[in-house]
Amino acid sequence: MRGARMSMQKQGYVLPLTAEETRRLHNQAHYLDRCTDPLLARYVRPGMHCVELGCGVGSSTQSIRQILGRTGTLTTVDQGVAFLDYTRQRLDQTGNDGVTFVHASAEYYAFPAELDLVFGRAVLHHTRDPWDVYARAAAALERGGFIIFQEPAMSAIFRHALPRGVESLWRWYIALGEQGGFHFDIGDDLARFATRAGLEIVEMAGYEPILVSDEDRSVYPKLLRVIGDQLLVAGLASREALEKVQDELEEAAREGIPMSYIPFIHCVAMRPLHAAPAGEPAH
Ligand SMILES: C[S@@+](CC[C@H](N)C(=O)[O-])C[C@H]1O[C@@H](n2cnc3c(N)ncnc32)[C@H](O)[C@@H]1O
Repeated sequence: MRGARMSMQKQGYVLPLTAEETRRLHNQAHYLDRCTDPLLARYVRPGMHCVELGCGVGSSTQSIRQILGRTGTLTTVDQGVAFLDYTRQRLDQTGNDGVTFVHASAEYYAFPAELDLVFGRAVLHHTRDPWDVYARAAAALERGGFIIFQEPAMSAIFRHALPRGVESLWRWYIALGEQGGFHFDIGDDLARFATRAGLEIVEMAGYEPILVSDEDRSVYPKLLRVIGDQLLVAGLASREALEKVQDELEEAAREGIPMSYIPFIHCVAMRPLHAAPAGEPAH
């Protein structure tokens, strides 16, 4: 178990960018975009200077870029080269003016000063010290600048009656995440982080996507295939248990019933206009 824990820590992210995982992330982005894109449309303005943490397959990168216009800039930071390459190629199709791709971990990234927006979706919960990342992002904001994180409150999913197999999948995923030091309920901490960083909360809401199409519902069987080997290596599941749950997930997907997906919480916070810049006394 100790060896498994060490390899998880070295890996730093439970989900490799395989073809299967790319497709799953596209699916996930598709449900979350229904909430995220209107949110970005409310806060991103042409000409802003923005940083995105954790671009993944680039959905939000593309959405932000499309609003920024010719004078805005976006730096997207990801610790995975494959994710950065994928997003760069995706934006090559629709426009990547003003976009810079930075290969770095959020934990070690030095935010440029005077940002108008720091955005991250489903990334803070993967970082080693989410508060430190949040605090440094908040410190880089211009007065009136926004910080937006949209993160899971994963344990809230157990409030729902879940189809057979789905509950086992999430319990395994959470256990795997705990070994890797991830924070799957960080959505619940976002308001506290904002207040502690001296920001004003502008908007906060929860979002519970429901999987309704055949394509949507196939996300659960796919996820187990992505993490199955890691569960075996970590000693969290036997091959027999994995096969049983895989069958249950495929059956649940075939049944056609709507299924809950991870609840997410977003918190938009702003550096107050009246706040003194760092180093100046407040009046
Ligand atoms: C679940 S994906 C979310 C991607 C995208 N934001 C979205 O919502 O579709 C998490 C992304 O964050 C990146 N990531 C995970 N931990 C990170 C860290 N500590 N620093 C920078 N990027 C990280 C991963 O490589 C991956 O691209």
